[in-house]
This record gives sequence, C-alpha cells and structure tokens, in this order.
Amino acid sequence: MNTPNTPQPAGRLAGKIILVSGAASGMGAQHARAICQEGGSAIIADIAHEAGRQLAAELNELHGRKAALYAELDVADHQDWTRAVAAAKEHFGALHGLVNNAGVGSKGSVLESSIEDWKRTIDINLTGNFLGMKAAVPLLRENPTSSIINVSSIAGLVGFKNRAAYSASKWGIQGLTKTSALDLGELGIRVNSIHPGSVNTPLTAGLKRGFGQVPAGRAAEVDEVSPLVIYLLSDESRYVSGANIAIDGGETAGNNLRAFN
Ligand SMILES: NC(=O)c1ccc[n+]([C@@H]2O[C@H](COP(=O)([O-])OP(=O)(O)OC[C@H]3O[C@@H](n4cnc5c(N)ncnc54)[C@H](O)[C@@H]3O)[C@@H](O)[C@H]2O)c1
Repeated sequence: MNTPNTPQPAGRLAGKIILVSGAASGMGAQHARAICQEGGSAIIADIAHEAGRQLAAELNELHGRKAALYAELDVADHQDWTRAVAAAKEHFGALHGLVNNAGVGSKGSVLESSIEDWKRTIDINLTGNFLGMKAAVPLLRENPTSSIINVSSIAGLVGFKNRAAYSASKWGIQGLTKTSALDLGELGIRVNSIHPGSVNTPLTAGLKRGFGQVPAGRAAEVDEVSPLVIYLLSDESRYVSGANIAIDGGETAGNNLRAFN
C-alpha cells in the first residue's frame, strides 16, 4: 500500500482515480487493467462480486500499489451509487473519471419485447448512466480536468434490427451525453460517449454475427477498445467533449453491402 515514500506511478493516467461500472467482465475489466497499466487507479464496480474482487486483488498484486478497489454496485440503484462513490473518496481521496460501462443486452422488436424487458434495459443501460453521473459529479468537480465516458453502442448511432429497448437505451445515452457536456463543461468535466461495434465479450458470446457490413471484416477484441477509453480519460483529450465516437471497424460508415451490383 502507498506510503509517503512510495514512488508515484508513471503513465498517461498517473495519479488519476477512475470508477468503471461493469468492470468485472468483458470490456470493463480490460479498461480497469489498462487504467492501472497507465498509472491510474480503478474502482471496479459491479454486481458480479466474486469476479470483481478477484480482478481488484490481481491488479493490486500486479502493480504493487493501491491500484484497484472493488465496490458492490447495481447501477440501477441510486443508493448503491452513493456508497460506491463514497468508497472511492474514502479509499483514494478523489475521483477524476467515470466510465459508465455496465450494460445488458435485450432482444426483440416493440411487438416482441415485454414491458419488463423494456424497463429493465432502460433502468440498467440508461438510468444507470444518469445515476452514475448524478452520484459522481460532486466529487469529479473537485478536480479541474475530470472526464466521463458513457458507453453506448453502434445501436445508439443507427437503428438496430430486433433490439428496440437496447437501441433506445443506447440512443438515450447519446442524448444524455451531449446535454451533460453542455451542462457540466463549466464544472471542468468533459462528457463523451463511445459506440463500440461487435466486440468479443461474454455479452456477445452466444450471438450469431455476420461481418459483411464491417469493413474490418471481424469483431474487435477488448484491448482494441481500451485505448480510446484511456485517451478520453487522459488530459490528451482535454478539448474533446460532447463527442460521440464510433469504434466499430467502419461498420456505421455507410452501406457496405453493394460491392458487386
Ligand atoms: N460486446 C459488444 O459487442 C458491445 C458492443 C457495443 C456496446 N457494448 C456495451 O459495452 C458495455 C460492456 O459490455 P461487454 O460486452 O463488456 O459485456 P459483459 O457482459 O462482458 O460485461 C458487462 C458487465 O456489466 C455488469 N453488469 C450487468 N448489469 C449490471 C448492473 N445492474 N450493475 C452493475 N453491473 C452490471 C456485468 O456483471 C458484467 O460484469 C455494455 O454497456 C454493452 O452494452 C458491448
């Protein structure tokens, strides 16, 4: 653990404390790893307690410093958020970034989606981002250069067949992000949304996906997404706010299906 004589870590996020929701698995876990690799510290917040605690222990061991903390968090619960942010303050003394990454998939058109599915998807994917910002902003604003990243999807850039609730939740994130960039800019907080295409994670493991629409011709691996998150968390992106950035191998660049006619 850190003492006054502990050398400060070097890296693009040196000294920055970042809360990542949904960080026990998939992209969130890789973001937490990358944050620690770049000299920052990560609060790994999730409902998957065992996996989250394991990852925090692994990162503390790997980096030999107070690199990570696990916090129990259901993103749809306002009180959980209050506790997670308080834990960050108590353990690390500050918060410089928030990655609203936790999310769930849901399938179905408006005809097929149940009202319960709709509410659950909006609660976790969209309200979860709102609650996260609401809880974290009072601490984030104590620093002059804080950054919030809201994880949307390409389903929040274009329509997405058979994903009515998911797409609505992800488009909602884009609107919440742009409006919050306007509202929070004067507090020194930048807010951006990222829009991954197909990424190989447990969330997509069971899906049949075609890549004909993807110029890259394949899905991404999680370590191809984290560099964008690191950039947006770091002061290198200090003039970037209110942006919605696709990271999708070109999938939403346009219609890619007419090569031969
Ligand atoms: N994988 C993809 O292709 C893809 C593409 C675009 C966007 N996304 C988005 O990226 C984000 C991460 O997805 P992933 O693919 O890494 O998924 P994943 O399933 O591997 O990880 C999601 C994490 O969120 C956690 N989680 C779920 N509900 C939660 C809740 N209520 N409170 C706290 N944590 C909760 C899970 O326990 C898990 O650890 C999601 O928002 C997802 O919608 C994923």
